[in-house]
Amino acid sequence: MAERVEVMLTEEEVDRRIQEIGDQISKDYAGKQVHLVCVLKGGSFFMCELAKRITVPVSLDFMSVSSYGAGTKSSGVVRIVKDLDEPLEGKDVLVVEDIVDSGRTLSYLLDMLSDRGPASLRLCTLLDKPDRRVVDVNVDYTGFQIPDEFVVGYGLDYDQRYRNLPFIGVVRFDD
Ligand code: IMP
Ligand code: MG
Repeated sequence: MAERVEVMLTEEEVDRRIQEIGDQISKDYAGKQVHLVCVLKGGSFFMCELAKRITVPVSLDFMSVSSYGAGTKSSGVVRIVKDLDEPLEGKDVLVVEDIVDSGRTLSYLLDMLSDRGPASLRLCTLLDKPDRRVVDVNVDYTGFQIPDEFVVGYGLDYDQRYRNLPFIGVVRFDD
């Protein structure tokens, strides 16, 4: 089965929106240092682009999680594959994600991170598919709300491919 990728959001649209979010974060965190927590691998492209546009002091950390459960549905029980290097105690933490889908992964992750005593804990996602939400998650910064389509690019993969696309695309299958 052949597949092709259709553009949903162009590189210019994504870059423009990341600049707007960066400006907003710089305002909201004025006088503070923001500690960005990237959820690998999907969040990495967005996090780097966002970090470059934030004008308050920034520190970075990375974690990798995998959700238990079969197939493409996340179960919501998250296993930490790579934990953060630094403690979160007293820090103004902003979790940076590629996409919020069912919300299961994020909901579990945010509960876990809040137990580590950050001064504040917020969530920033490039994409949100609100129609797919199963578990309520409070998203503080959203790049784009998108319809229920499987998207790739800007860190998002289909079978580990397409993460490097500089735009957001929809995977179409031709038969
Ligand atoms: P959930 O919110 O727990 O359902 O899972 C979110 C995770 O599923 C994201 O961090 C992505 O890794 C993955 N995911 C959800 N929707 C898509 C998509 O459209 N394309 C690529 N990955 C996706
Ligand atoms: Mg992700």
